[in-house]
Amino acid sequence: MSEIDPASPLLLFDSGVGGLSVLAEVRNLLPAAPVIYAADNGGLPYGPKTEAEVAARVCGLLGRMAERYRPRLICIACNTASTIALGMVRDVLEIPIVGTVPAIKPAAEQTRSGTIGLLGTAATIRQPYVDRLEAEFAQGILLLRAAAPDLVTAAEAKLRGEPVDQSVYQRAAAALRDQAGGERIDTVVLACTHFPLVEAELAAAFGPGVRFVHGAAGIARRIDRLTDGQAMARPAPDLALFTRAEPGLPTLAPALVRYGLTRMEVL
Ligand code: DGL
Repeated sequence: MSEIDPASPLLLFDSGVGGLSVLAEVRNLLPAAPVIYAADNGGLPYGPKTEAEVAARVCGLLGRMAERYRPRLICIACNTASTIALGMVRDVLEIPIVGTVPAIKPAAEQTRSGTIGLLGTAATIRQPYVDRLEAEFAQGILLLRAAAPDLVTAAEAKLRGEPVDQSVYQRAAAALRDQAGGERIDTVVLACTHFPLVEAELAAAFGPGVRFVHGAAGIARRIDRLTDGQAMARPAPDLALFTRAEPGLPTLAPALVRYGLTRMEVL
């Protein structure tokens, strides 16, 4: 195997700012890793799209990005894209691809009431991938699913410093609580990478006694293992890459800087 260029980045991909919740954990474990954070803002949101639309965008964009930026590894930091297209991306690209899938297993291990909720996008919650995780890891547990597209919008607005209508959090909680058995939920899977960015707001809406579970720390550990022993150097500041130039992009700069992304570029 040829030596990996120390400047070859980790590329984290999401439809928007959600993957920053994964990047935060990656920074903790791999502070020296050069990073490109890629947001498909031209395709945001993925949640209402069809499987074919998401798969085509994700495979096409990651192919172009892999060719242009030569990452050592790609992390699809998006549950929607991962549950639909992880297998396809792995088939076409020859570098390690790490996905983000709903953290049903740890939630099932942690629940005491035997009832867990899952908040994701409309596309994620209907995926056979999620059915398989439920069948494998949540037998004997009641798993209630709800789509919460407004939380994607809320997280995007929060990171742009825009006001957010706080009732979106109450509505997301009610979408789970109002289902039969929903009052017994003690553990909620945040099955969209945007949602940990509004976890405090969700915690206030659900009230005490509910814990939230997501996969970011586990993903970071997996990336750490897959890059074990590789030399890493950051010859230029880390890059935030977008798929569409839009007037609002500069409002994201302060949030991106907090995640160590001090350059912005459009693909
Ligand atoms: N952050 C994405 C996820 O983890 C999806 C948000 C969207 O584009 O709808 O599912």
